[in-house]
Amino acid sequence: MSLPEIQQQLAQEKQLVAATAAGWVRDGMVVGLGTGSTAAPFIELLGQRVREGGLRIQATATSRASDELARRVGIPMLEPRRGLRFDLTVDGADELDPQLRLIKGGGGALLREKVIATASDYLLIVADSSKAVAQLGRFPLPLEVVPFALPWVMDAVEAIGGAPVVRVDKLNPGELAQSDQGNLLLDCHFEKIENPAELALKLKTIPGMVEHGLFLSLARAAIIVQGGAAQVLRPGQAAVAAAEFSVLP
Ligand code: A5P
Repeated sequence: MSLPEIQQQLAQEKQLVAATAAGWVRDGMVVGLGTGSTAAPFIELLGQRVREGGLRIQATATSRASDELARRVGIPMLEPRRGLRFDLTVDGADELDPQLRLIKGGGGALLREKVIATASDYLLIVADSSKAVAQLGRFPLPLEVVPFALPWVMDAVEAIGGAPVVRVDKLNPGELAQSDQGNLLLDCHFEKIENPAELALKLKTIPGMVEHGLFLSLARAAIIVQGGAAQVLRPGQAAVAAAEFSVLP
């Protein structure tokens, strides 16, 4: 397959998993909206159900970009407040392993994504088939870092075996990428993450490291495409056809 053909196939897979997830949202749900190229079609299709199908939901987004998209497509939005919980959050991932441990943050939204994921009763990941890996780490692990602390965070990441690279703004290559909070982003190459839980603990001790992109014990299920059909993965379990799956809250 040529590169454009692979890209086209992955784009079709994103649409399929997004449509499957959008079909699972029910009246009355409070929904967390993810960020990225797989979450975006989910938000668009959900907006369509709200506008045309009368679906009654409320939502909060994990980034300014997703918030703007959601408002544009007609989804009623909730501001953050004490006690707010999400029945279902649908988000993408950069890597997911068979235990549904994730690397997230390729789009820079990892902090809000982790806040919303942690406030969710059910985190559902939507991803194309390229995201499923046997072991995490090929995708560089994103960290959100307070600008003042950047040099020392880079030293600390190197000391635990990572190669940190400061993320550059794709649209303005002369500028550093900034998160929605105005922090900087580090992409840390570990190649293979043998023990994600241990690495997460080490990262949490670094002053100025606001959040890391390891999402452990958060995802309840993932929809990915295998053999052309949407399949549901759950931690450590065999895949089941999405059409036969009904364990949502
Ligand atoms: C955003 O910061 C990320 O965590 C995304 O959820 C992740 O990068 C997946 O994005 P795509 O669906 O665009 O691959």
